Amino acid sequence: MEFRVVFICLSLFVLTYAEPVKYHDCGSTEGKVSIVDIDPCPTQPCELKKGESYSVNVTFISDDESQKSTAVVHGVIAGLPIPFPIPVADGCKSGITCPIQKGTTYSYVNQLPVKAEYPSIRLVVKWELMDDLKRDLFCILFPVKITS
Ligand SMILES: *[C@@H]1O[C@H](CO)[C@@H](O)[C@H](O)[C@H]1NC(C)=O
Repeated sequence: MEFRVVFICLSLFVLTYAEPVKYHDCGSTEGKVSIVDIDPCPTQPCELKKGESYSVNVTFISDDESQKSTAVVHGVIAGLPIPFPIPVADGCKSGITCPIQKGTTYSYVNQLPVKAEYPSIRLVVKWELMDDLKRDLFCILFPVKITS
């Protein structure tokens, strides 16, 4: 009886608890990333199903002032960065109140749509948010697996 209760609780925990995504910083010179969340992503590397859309939430502290912010996303395949189009590239329309101020924590929230025509491969997503001078407020790398 006790054992079953513990087991059910653990299963629920595993099902509902979204772990922060493991990422590598690729040169966030104008900010500091504190947490990266992708939803849904129950196991890592995140499995991205074709035709689905995923929410990406990057929380960072800005070390810079900037009027604008622009997201640039690449899929890195065999070391080659290939542009990965996102519907909204304007960071100021993705959960960030602009102008960006120094020493402030922001949560950048956007959608990553996975198109049906993408190949079923593993790749590394490189997500950058650039300031007015095209310097990186954040630059993160995280592995994903595209599946059908
Ligand atoms: C993004 O992540 C931060 C930190 O975990 C959280 O406070 C915020 O509510 C999240 N935003 C959304 C829209 O999920």
